[in-house]
Amino acid sequence: MTARFEGSATYVATADLAVAVNAAVTLQRPLLVKGEPGTGKTELARQVAQALNLRLIEWHVKSTTKAQQGLYEYDAVSRLRDSQLGPGLGGERVSDVTNYIRKGKLWQAFESPGRVVLLIDEVDKADIEFPNDLLQELDRMEFHVYETGETIRAQHRPVVIITSNNEKDLPDAFLRRCFFHFIRFPDAETLAAIVKVHFPDIKDALLGTALTQFFEIRETAGLKKKPSTSEVLDWLKLLLAEDLGPEDLRREGKHSLPKLHGALLKNEQDVHLFEQLAFMARSQR
Ligand SMILES: Nc1ncnc2c1ncn2[C@@H]1O[C@H](COP(=O)(O)OP(=O)(O)O)[C@@H](O)[C@H]1O
Ligand SMILES: [Mg+2]
Repeated sequence: MTARFEGSATYVATADLAVAVNAAVTLQRPLLVKGEPGTGKTELARQVAQALNLRLIEWHVKSTTKAQQGLYEYDAVSRLRDSQLGPGLGGERVSDVTNYIRKGKLWQAFESPGRVVLLIDEVDKADIEFPNDLLQELDRMEFHVYETGETIRAQHRPVVIITSNNEKDLPDAFLRRCFFHFIRFPDAETLAAIVKVHFPDIKDALLGTALTQFFEIRETAGLKKKPSTSEVLDWLKLLLAEDLGPEDLRREGKHSLPKLHGALLKNEQDVHLFEQLAFMARSQR
């Protein structure tokens, strides 16, 4: 019986998330996890690796990342430079092409002697070709290295976890091959549980007041960027560091800015929105 994922003392997994992880592992398909930033997608991969007792290989995708970089990169420029050096100066490296091949994360995952968890983080950051270009390799778990003529084949099919912040739509052919899960923003009860794994000693009164305010802020219409789990954790960390109690959080109304709002509202338009709403509320009294 293989290990199953069910969350941990440091990570709250809702039942539907645990089901999705275990289904993807059973089906041996990549798990595509979507959700707004801060909902625990990256952390999920670390937790799955821990729960299944597997090594984690993390590939963080940037806007310029190409699929080929996950396989390998061939450094033709260094090779050319070395070829201009004489023997003894590094020139002898030239004859061995493997000196100029840098293994990518997929290669590292494939050659690993045990099964690994491979995280492909924020797949939607790269251009639209990126997921399509990886289809073959992820399906067949092998690829060819033209420079050396070798084929790299996975010794054990990795558990692949792919995350997306939903900035771009992903191609259908890619979606078809994945098991999909959307992490919904946690409800009050789940968020309280998440806070407690990070701050086990927090007093219920402070937690209750802070989360009520947090949800009021989050649900304010017209926000450019809704604060998420990571913001509420930062905010509570500050409140605890300043030793503030629920009475210190008292506000004039649900539209006034909370204490230390810089942890929750990350752009001037949103701060301004609250200032305006508070002003309007005051003038109506
Ligand atoms: N379900 C959860 N249980 C415990 N901590 C969580 C959970 N979801 C989010 N967090 C915490 O919130 C922060 C952001 O999580 P992260 O995985 O970076 O989010 P994402 O990758 O979705 O942007 C981390 O500190 C993480 O530990
Ligand atoms: Mg992340």
